[in-house]
Amino acid sequence: MVQKISVNQRREIGKRSPLIYGQFIEHFHRQIYGGIYDPGNSLSDEDGFRTDIIEAMQKIGTPVLRWPGGCFVSSYHWKKAVGENRTPFFDKAWRVEDSNSFGTDEYIKLCRKLNCEPYICTNAGTGTAEEMSDWVEYCNLEQEGEYAKWRIANGNPEPYHVKYWSIGNENYGFWEIGAKSAEEWGRLTAESAKMMKHVDPSIELSAAALADISWNINLLRHCGPFLDWISIHQYWDMMPQINNPASYEQCMAFTDQIDRSVCEVRGILTAMRLEHKIKIAFDEWNLRSWHHPNVHTIEQGRSKEEYLTPRDKNDDNSTYTMADAVFAACFLNAMNRNCDIVGMANFAPVLNTRGCIYSDKSGIVLRSTYYVFDLYVNYMGDIVIDTWERNEASYMTVTGKNGTAADVKILDILATKWSDRPGIAVAIVNKHVSEAQHIELEFGGLEGPAVLYTLNGPSENSYNDIDNKQVEIVRHNLGQAAGKLSLVIQPHSVNVLQI
Ligand code: AHR
Repeated sequence: MVQKISVNQRREIGKRSPLIYGQFIEHFHRQIYGGIYDPGNSLSDEDGFRTDIIEAMQKIGTPVLRWPGGCFVSSYHWKKAVGENRTPFFDKAWRVEDSNSFGTDEYIKLCRKLNCEPYICTNAGTGTAEEMSDWVEYCNLEQEGEYAKWRIANGNPEPYHVKYWSIGNENYGFWEIGAKSAEEWGRLTAESAKMMKHVDPSIELSAAALADISWNINLLRHCGPFLDWISIHQYWDMMPQINNPASYEQCMAFTDQIDRSVCEVRGILTAMRLEHKIKIAFDEWNLRSWHHPNVHTIEQGRSKEEYLTPRDKNDDNSTYTMADAVFAACFLNAMNRNCDIVGMANFAPVLNTRGCIYSDKSGIVLRSTYYVFDLYVNYMGDIVIDTWERNEASYMTVTGKNGTAADVKILDILATKWSDRPGIAVAIVNKHVSEAQHIELEFGGLEGPAVLYTLNGPSENSYNDIDNKQVEIVRHNLGQAAGKLSLVIQPHSVNVLQI
């Protein structure tokens, strides 16, 4: 059946923030040490940062980098990781020693090299309002007080102007160090926000939330006036304890209601009349959860084989297939559609673990999800425009990892245009595992050269690895188009059509 689609570039949904293509990096496994911060490696620059990784992150226009966690942050004390005397500490979240050689100053230096916004997540687990606001002093005050003077003494005379700050990380979860009740959370967040804004009223503040009414109502009742963002996280293919990646078909089931948590938080914000004041920062998302058995549990692992060695399984590049790329494109389409209330999203993480880039001592691998960011950042427009089916949409029934069936749309389409140049760019995702989809696209009076960029591999399970590149973007010149175009979209593929 031919799917008939219309695009109307005069009907604007909204302007998406570039921050929805944000990234996240945590002190976990090889993301920082031996990852992006690899002093002594011939691939690293004079500051110890891997130039191959930085270049790859620059090519997908990393707009914001959230750091240092994640669960790590809930027992992290930033003051031990600045200045001359770095005291190694035992990271109780991930049960490893952290040298503290990578701290705030190194992080800011990294953000400058990436030309991206810093986004610091503070310790609301064992930390205090004072420790959080001292961090804002260190980063943003000119020279008033001991912490700004400390920054200057450490060789950084100019303030860092860190605009984005988050209070806490998942403090609602039993697994989080310093977990809080909803009432405790509302109170701590309000006092922390007050002190942080007293230091620098220009900062934008987020706080850990989730699609849970009582938690968010408590948070917003106590802290709503101070907040600019509300932070939510989601992983769909949950594998913290058992490393059993979902199949392609099971992953497609996860695309059903992919923006459910955004809709729920939008509802709470609207009910509390905060929907025009507070935006959603979806500041951890990934189809696949990280694998780190026996640490988020009450009974901790005893041997390193039980809780440390298994983390290497995240490094298996064959896990990250076209399923990950198709899912990521569906997620980014959903965030674009909700661009009126979603102002930031951060892929968790950018490097190693389940990231879009894999690195080892001798180089990097660009996983399938990396190319989705390449397509959306470099080939899509910044204004979301309206698109709709002119005939019945095609569905497919897939069985989820939990064994239940879900009817999901085979095509996921998002249309955009640019605020600074003519033309349209339409993202077209074909989720079907084997069937190409025929599309008749109508786009009004627009005419011009049409180019289709297709991200795909030989099969739904294609992936990229060292010396084995199966997934890439291929350009197809479709010639001159005027008003409409017929397309055949490959199975398990992510495409951007530019006219
Ligand atoms: O699995 C990694 C963890 O996922 C992050 O540290 C935390 O924020 C989330 O629970």
